[in-house]
Amino acid sequence: MRRRFLFFSLLVVTVGCSEHPTDPFAEGHAAIRAALLIDPENLPRYAPVTLPAYFDAAVLGREDRTIGAPISDAGATLGRVLFYERQLSRNGTVSCATCHAQTVAFGDSARFSRGFEGALTSAHSMRLVNARFNESGRFLWDRRAATLEAQSTQPIQDPGEMGFDAAHGGIVAALTRLRERPYYAPLFRMAFGDSVVTEDRVQRALAQYVRSIVSTTSRWDLAAAPIFTPANPQGSLNGPFPALTPEETQGKQLFQGSGCAACHVPPSFSLNANSRSNGLDAGETRIFRSPSLKQVGRSGRFMHDGRFATLEQVIEFYDSGIQAGPTLDNRLMAPPLVPGGPPSGIPRRFGFTAEQRAALVAFLRTLTDETLAVDARFSDPFRR
Ligand code: HEC
Ligand code: HEC
Repeated sequence: MRRRFLFFSLLVVTVGCSEHPTDPFAEGHAAIRAALLIDPENLPRYAPVTLPAYFDAAVLGREDRTIGAPISDAGATLGRVLFYERQLSRNGTVSCATCHAQTVAFGDSARFSRGFEGALTSAHSMRLVNARFNESGRFLWDRRAATLEAQSTQPIQDPGEMGFDAAHGGIVAALTRLRERPYYAPLFRMAFGDSVVTEDRVQRALAQYVRSIVSTTSRWDLAAAPIFTPANPQGSLNGPFPALTPEETQGKQLFQGSGCAACHVPPSFSLNANSRSNGLDAGETRIFRSPSLKQVGRSGRFMHDGRFATLEQVIEFYDSGIQAGPTLDNRLMAPPLVPGGPPSGIPRRFGFTAEQRAALVAFLRTLTDETLAVDARFSDPFRR
């Protein structure tokens, strides 16, 4: 890699002297090309992304958190480089992608993730697909992050994740690392107009990249597109999709009829803002969120602590394992004891048959997006 860098530097000097003696960008572009699989003069397209028609004004107005934070090709490209930048960890081994791998729906197949110097995270990594669609606007399993921007530089400063905690120079030391890499000055200039590296800009670029990761090519999407009829209730998306198998169709009806869709809302399959706890543990007082169920079939572990290893176990939990507690959502309780009375507080027992459980799993697998998993715009841009 070093040799290639030298080669490009020489090339630029030559070209710079003979053709563009005053071009301040040529050197920067060469630095980008030397380190990265990115052509600065022909950036991948992140914006504007044309979403399918069923992401209509109602869905976008309710769920789209890019409002006021527009995505640009240069901003998302910088975010992509930062996302795969191992120098953002103190010992140069861990990047965001270590725990948010494209092949695992930008999550981790392991129950807990190994961060800086082998430390394990205390929660399961979250899939980042469709993070853009988040009605509540809050992030992390327990919703403690107020914005995607605020969340995006936290892992860098976490002693167990990327290691730039206060005792080791904090974000200032991480930003210094970035300034030492020759490709960042031109990438920041392209994204923000000048080469100044700040935490605010790192946050905005990472958030632009993460918000670009939208799933629109799962089997569910390909089956929904020809059915969508804006004039009909729910755009006709509640009816059968001829492109799905009979088992998947049965699962789709169960997902809607059992109330799953009221919390995990199509077409983004992001969590409804009013969702309370789903009753994993008796007496639970916290209220967790779920990432979008798009790509859930690519996960190796499920729930905030990764307690389930298969989708079958997840469905079994909803069928017979919901626990009572102060934050349990009404939708997962048995009906009120008196019609119209207060919530029963009693965990719901769905009583699915084996066939129905298999159908629900088959339906969840229609949310798998093979195209997104190999989309080059989201892949590792480094020449390693
Ligand atoms: C060592 C593993 C690890 C690294 C490195 C890591 N993350 Fe995470 N990420 C996690 C875990 C675990 C969670 C869930 C944590 C929680 O809720 O307590 C998470 C959650 C998130 C979320 C919240 C998603 C949602 O829908 O609420 C975002 C966004 C995120 N990470 C982005 C990043 C970015 C950007 C980076 C790099 C700067 C990064 N992560 C680095 C493990 C990691
Ligand atoms: C009251 C709202 C609500 C309802 C109804 C609901 N869920 Fe969930 N679901 C959640 C929450 C909240 C989580 C995350 C809980 C956690 O990890 O602590 C979750 C997690 C999941 C996950 C794992 C996601 C992941 O990334 O690990 C799957 C799969 C899932 N639900 C499927 C379903 C199915 C199928 C149904 C219907 C039988 C259903 N849900 C009904 C709120 C709900």
